Amino acid sequence: MMTMNPHLQQLQPYPFARLRTAMQGLTPPSELSPIALHIGEPKHPTPALITEALTSHLNGLSAYPVTAGLPELKQACAGWLQQRYQGVQIDAETEILPVLGSREALFAFTQTIINGSNHKTPVVVSPNPFYQIYEGAALLAGAKIAYVNCPAPDFQPQWQQIDAATWPHVQLVFVCSPANPSGAVMDLSQWQALFALQDQYGFVIASDECYSEIYFDDHTKPLGALQAATELGRSFDNLIMFTSLSKRSNVPGLRSGFVAGDARLLADFLLYRTYHGSAMSLPTQYASIAAWQDEQHVTDNRRLYREKFAQVLPILQQKYAIRQPDASFYLWLPVPDSDDLRFTQKLWQKAAVQVLPGRFLARDTAYGNPGQGYVRIALVAPLEECLEAADRMISLM
Ligand SMILES: Cc1ncc(COP(=O)(O)O)c(C=O)c1O
Repeated sequence: MMTMNPHLQQLQPYPFARLRTAMQGLTPPSELSPIALHIGEPKHPTPALITEALTSHLNGLSAYPVTAGLPELKQACAGWLQQRYQGVQIDAETEILPVLGSREALFAFTQTIINGSNHKTPVVVSPNPFYQIYEGAALLAGAKIAYVNCPAPDFQPQWQQIDAATWPHVQLVFVCSPANPSGAVMDLSQWQALFALQDQYGFVIASDECYSEIYFDDHTKPLGALQAATELGRSFDNLIMFTSLSKRSNVPGLRSGFVAGDARLLADFLLYRTYHGSAMSLPTQYASIAAWQDEQHVTDNRRLYREKFAQVLPILQQKYAIRQPDASFYLWLPVPDSDDLRFTQKLWQKAAVQVLPGRFLARDTAYGNPGQGYVRIALVAPLEECLEAADRMISLM
């Protein structure tokens, strides 16, 4: 008999696989061109300064890269971090590690952190709704997962939903700010509450911040984990932030990001990664240096998203109770009769617009399923297409 890692059986189908199943046999009107707003894949063009840096370093393919990354890349990441997050002091050598996008880093970091040698099953806490990698990473590491719902109106994690008997077994807590799918950003008081729990129970915090650069007001940029710690006079002990070029710089195919924070955890993470085989190729490292050192293309990118929200929201607001998110390129739309699946199917059948039912991004808990009654709309398509989709959504009502 074949032996397999039994945890593989615990993995849930990915939201897009569930969507395909739910849409089987449904066809949109033939006269309408389909508009895809269900996947959060950036669609704006990749800036030339990144593709040029990539292609001018293709000779780097002849060498094995080292997992720790080039010192110049770590310096570029540290430089970006310190100009983006006021007051944060970071040591490029020990407190930064390049990763191949935040997805693999979130997954691999979980494998590094979870310690199953104790007699009690370790617990990982995930927001709910959530980015499904958190759950898969926890299960494959042999941990149990505990969800904290992030309900309306402010979509913040309700930590009190974790009971007192569970907290001592929690080894890792994921937070996502700006959140996928709600766009909600944790403010300093929310960080303070989470840090208080951390001081009590000693868990590690993994802060997923890959949407941090898609915001609407230059005066209120999303707060990051390291800035929150700095403002509260804390060290980075047991705290790691994950960021990525995918959304910031429209390079989801480059596979480049970095993690920053606790030097002790990063030393272990580097050891793990050496065996995992996740060193970044040299051309990608040079392209990443160019990307982290330039802010103009990020400002331009943000402007495109702002224009879309500014024009799409007033249309949708005629019929839907929707407000601008704190950040991110998502609209987390409450649907009229609370049946997100039915709404998604109808929108496709009648209007050829594809969105993602909120229930596919969330789990049932004792406190309900916080994705139910919502659909996630990613404003990634060109403005004209987003406007057309919004018009069709209004006609549908
Ligand atoms: C919340 C969240 N975290 C992480 C990722 C992974 O992005 P990447 O691996 O491209 O950095 C995504 C991608 O959609 C995401 O939505």
